[in-house]
Amino acid sequence: MRQLLVLFLMCLTGGLPWLSIAQRLHHCPNDCHWNGHCNPHSGLCTCYDGFYNKDCSGDCGCGGHGVCKADHTCQCDEGWKWSVLDRKCVWDCQCPNGQSCMAPSVCSCSRACQYGTCWDGQCECWEGYTGETCGLLNTNTMSNRNSSLGVNLGGLTYYSSEIKFVDVAKESSNWVTQRWGNHSWDTHEHATINMRSDGYPASLPDDLALEKLMLRSLSHTPTGVYTILYDGEGDIELNLVHYQKIYSGKGRILINVTIGQSGLGIRLLRTNPANPLHNLRVILPGFEARHEQFPFYPLFLESLARYSEFRYMDFLHTNAHTPEPTTWKARKTTADHTQGGSDGGALEYAILLSNQMGASPWFNMPHAADDDFIMKFATQVKQSLRPDLRVYVEYSNEVWNGIFRQNHYATEKGLSLGLDTAAWKAGFKYYNKRSHEMGQIWKSVYGASFDKLVLPWAWQTGYEEYTRQALEDLGTRVHDFTALAITGYFTCDLTSKYMSSVRTMSYDEVLSICTDYIQNKTRSSFSHYMGVAKDHDLHLLMYEGGQHIVEKAPYHTDVTSKLTNINRNVIMETLNSNLLNIWNEIVIKHSTSPGGLFNYFASCGKYSQYGSWGILEYTGQPFSTVPKYRAVQAFITSQSLNTEVAPKCSFVDLGNISYGCFLVGNRAYCGSSTDRGQNWSSFQSIHDSVSRLVADGFNSASNTLFVRGVHPNMTFYYYTINIHNPRYTVETNFDYYEKLSDVKVIRRLPNGVFKSLNLHLNCQ
Ligand SMILES: *[C@@H]1O[C@H](CO)[C@@H](O)[C@H](O)[C@H]1NC(C)=O
Ligand SMILES: *[C@@H]1O[C@H](CO)[C@@H](O)[C@H](O)[C@H]1NC(C)=O
Ligand SMILES: *[C@@H]1O[C@H](CO)[C@@H](O)[C@H](O)[C@H]1NC(C)=O
Ligand SMILES: *[C@@H]1O[C@H](CO)[C@@H](O)[C@H](O)[C@H]1NC(C)=O
Ligand SMILES: *[C@@H]1O[C@H](CO)[C@@H](O)[C@H](O)[C@H]1NC(C)=O
Ligand SMILES: *[C@@H]1O[C@H](CO)[C@@H](O)[C@H](O)[C@H]1NC(C)=O
Ligand SMILES: *[C@@H]1O[C@H](CO)[C@@H](O)[C@H](O)[C@H]1NC(C)=O
Repeated sequence: MRQLLVLFLMCLTGGLPWLSIAQRLHHCPNDCHWNGHCNPHSGLCTCYDGFYNKDCSGDCGCGGHGVCKADHTCQCDEGWKWSVLDRKCVWDCQCPNGQSCMAPSVCSCSRACQYGTCWDGQCECWEGYTGETCGLLNTNTMSNRNSSLGVNLGGLTYYSSEIKFVDVAKESSNWVTQRWGNHSWDTHEHATINMRSDGYPASLPDDLALEKLMLRSLSHTPTGVYTILYDGEGDIELNLVHYQKIYSGKGRILINVTIGQSGLGIRLLRTNPANPLHNLRVILPGFEARHEQFPFYPLFLESLARYSEFRYMDFLHTNAHTPEPTTWKARKTTADHTQGGSDGGALEYAILLSNQMGASPWFNMPHAADDDFIMKFATQVKQSLRPDLRVYVEYSNEVWNGIFRQNHYATEKGLSLGLDTAAWKAGFKYYNKRSHEMGQIWKSVYGASFDKLVLPWAWQTGYEEYTRQALEDLGTRVHDFTALAITGYFTCDLTSKYMSSVRTMSYDEVLSICTDYIQNKTRSSFSHYMGVAKDHDLHLLMYEGGQHIVEKAPYHTDVTSKLTNINRNVIMETLNSNLLNIWNEIVIKHSTSPGGLFNYFASCGKYSQYGSWGILEYTGQPFSTVPKYRAVQAFITSQSLNTEVAPKCSFVDLGNISYGCFLVGNRAYCGSSTDRGQNWSSFQSIHDSVSRLVADGFNSASNTLFVRGVHPNMTFYYYTINIHNPRYTVETNFDYYEKLSDVKVIRRLPNGVFKSLNLHLNCQ
């Protein structure tokens, strides 16, 4: 239903400093040995930090983590030390017996983490898993327990306001080509570049440069010191931003930058054909140390905590997925220069996200996937998805919908296979055939005994008769599906029936019109499909639902602003609640699991003339200020049998001193103990209404304890406490997670691990 988001590249202004000269005037001596920036005006090298000599042939051994000393050895950064033997900076750790160094000043775990990730001697468990090695599942600890809400995640694009990864290059654009002396933003010579399979150039002609964009057109981007990392050898520069270079090493650059609406451009000027630059990462302030082990942005994770399922339709770029046919060999990998593009994100990241959050994945198989792709995809999911989750698998998305390539594909296939001579029937006949085949392949991989595989079937919800015919065509194959999946959008007819008056309509009028719409049209659609599902012995699910208040082209700016304002207005809290309550009344209450799942569309996204789909408008938006988010959370709370919004006790154990947060009676306290929990001296108590406090970590260098308050309505409060002057300092969510990710922070013990600090406390 929803329309395609098309974003045109706005006119790019400013800063093409090097490329503006007529041509590359000079080569530099020995190409600066790839250890420095070659200035094409002067032909002089500017050596990267850690290198010296005119042609940068001298290497102090810093490896991107230090600066040259007078004797041409390296003054290594903290966490690194000079190795006399190797003549270079090496990792510096003091690890206990049985642990080794896994990163600079970070020790490994003495035992492998089963359902979690090791960091500095401790496992950080995936949602729901407890114990020192994260081997025990305790569903009571899950914040999405018993939630019948799922969510459609946003796509991976360079202009997405949903910041998913701490490495923002993962959501960067494709390369554009730029030519020396030519001011065109893109000379469209991409096809002439010899690209590696990971999307980096194997070599670059002298007169061409490549550029890619990230964090474009966003109103809220983290500010501070970004880390740019790459492997291989080359020469990059930044575009479209003002920045201050803090460190300029080989393969590691630190910049202090404020990113504006233009976003950040990274321009690749040279690459060494013998060792091409690749694995470019652009890491948000604070996350350099942990980005490899913890690729997802914590604020993104926090916003998703209570959904029991994620639909990866846009994340894996289902609509108009390429290439056709889709083979396993051509799939996106984690090494690719971007996770964006019409071939979708890497499956590995979808699995990791679901594992980490304990949210079942909903996968949409690309419309042109061959059998081998489907089989290998299923096999990889089986091998790496945590065992407690369901797996939803759907063939493509909205194959009935003419705005999507998959619709034309299915129609062409259906006609050429002779399934029907009428195009509109050939389409659903091919859909039925291929989605059934797809389901059988998944079943063959998982085996008949696996009962967590959910195979939804879907056609055009808004057109009941068409859907009836399509379903009828399935015949007995219907028994091989698990669920009927529908949409649950409300348009309120605002941009059809009420188009002439919508500009001047009051919010009260909108509320009244939409309330009627939901009470009548939406309710009757849910009832109808509940009946259809029952008749066919299927569960009823929603694959997409929420508001659908959007204009069709041509767009009018005054209408757009009215519709986005409606989406931000408090009436949206009531309307979303109405929608969810009717779904509850008609579907959830009369369903057994997995029936009743409601997939909101979508988690996060900018509001524009193309729609206001996001529950949040940007990652990090304060939840309590967003009517849509409040409605969704309140519904989950009302449904939830789970009052455990956060653990009762959390401890940071430093040996001779421990910090903790816990409940005494109904009040939450944090405090410290120097006798292993015999006595706790509590810090002043805070915020009456905060029902739980969580000690997330302790920075041993700044003596700061990190404490998060979690209200049952999922409002969060963030504090740091300087333990020498124990007062709660309020932090923004952005700052809190940035500081918490510092390498010096010792993280809290995993849930269920108390090291007897719980002696006098009720932690269970
Ligand atoms: C709630 O979750 C628990 C634990 O996962 C499960 O045993 C129980 O059946 C669920 N209850 C409902 C009503 O879904
Ligand atoms: C710049 O590149 C564009 C696109 O390739 C081309 O059409 C144009 O003629 C070029 N301009 C100059 C001044 O070379
Ligand atoms: C980064 O720049 C901002 C604003 O110019 C400044 O306040 C801040 O101190 C700088 N940070 C570092 C680490 O240089
Ligand atoms: C729509 O529902 C409302 C109740 O919410 C009811 O009063 C109204 O009569 C209904 N309208 C139609 C056309 O059925
Ligand atoms: C949650 O509760 C707190 C404290 O009662 C309140 O300040 C906040 O507005 C509530 N947030 C939501 C989203 O309802
Ligand atoms: C705890 O032990 C560390 C060394 O393990 C020491 O540096 C620190 O001063 C001790 N702290 C207290 C409060 O005794
Ligand atoms: C610490 O706790 C123990 C036993 O719980 C008690 O006997 C002792 O007096 C306490 N010490 C202090 C300093 O409060």
